Amino acid sequence: MTETKHPETSAVELIDVSKTYPGTPPVDALSNISMSVSTGEFIGIVGASGSGKSTLLHVIGTLTRPTSGSLLINGLETSGLSDQELSGVRSKNVGFIFQDFFLLPGFTALENVENGLLYSTFPASGRKDRAREILDRVGLSNRAHHLPNEMSGGEQQRVAVARALVHKPAFVLADEPTGNLDSSNTAAVLELLIGLNHEGTTVILITHDQEVAAKSSRQITFKDGRINRRSRKKNV
Ligand SMILES: Nc1ncnc2c1ncn2[C@@H]1O[C@H](COP(=O)(O)OP(=O)(O)OP(=O)(O)O)[C@@H](O)[C@H]1O
Ligand SMILES: [Mg+2]
Repeated sequence: MTETKHPETSAVELIDVSKTYPGTPPVDALSNISMSVSTGEFIGIVGASGSGKSTLLHVIGTLTRPTSGSLLINGLETSGLSDQELSGVRSKNVGFIFQDFFLLPGFTALENVENGLLYSTFPASGRKDRAREILDRVGLSNRAHHLPNEMSGGEQQRVAVARALVHKPAFVLADEPTGNLDSSNTAAVLELLIGLNHEGTTVILITHDQEVAAKSSRQITFKDGRINRRSRKKNV
């Protein structure tokens, strides 16, 4: 595989990225987006429903390819990669957190977290210990053997956060992670993401909730598939 490494490496860089969904008429979900996320940043992506936030997340997470433009992950140009190479880049670099948690129903909290190591190169013998360690980090050691339906929504989302982080990804992509949570669980999950960010994890948080986005250090607002506004970076 040909690797193009750029000298000033961002965790994520988009150059003139567009994404059009085919159909009649086609939908221009993203139009000429250029943005970069530095390692260690906490970015909030905001915008109304349909403005392209989830499409952006899918493109950054290499779940879907842009129609045109470049996506660089840790300085690596992804456009020339095969599907298999792309899935390697994804499993190494990206941790996903979704609104609906997507925990495996028949598996305990610990097993769900360990499942996040399935496609990693992490040695099999250390996986359970690593899963325990990160479950402890999200404050759920005492729920390790509970099934998802035996946990609250906030606890389930914290398990999902642990699963997203267990393989030490370069960055975490969270799509409306607090969308199904009440205000106290929302606050708990946000505090967790903020704490992890302070420890060095790069976080890209997608939300339509300005209050949630205000917890990030920089916000990018989308409107109709375009960047409408960029806030200045603030120290948190
Ligand atoms: N698979 C698809 N096929 C066709 N059109 C799509 C597809 N996915 C999204 N779209 C369209 O692309 C646009 C952007 O959708 P996207 O899901 O990215 O918005 P969003 O900002 O995440 O919205 P929400 O806040 O409601 O989740 C919308 O007009 C949507 O209808
Ligand atoms: Mg969405």
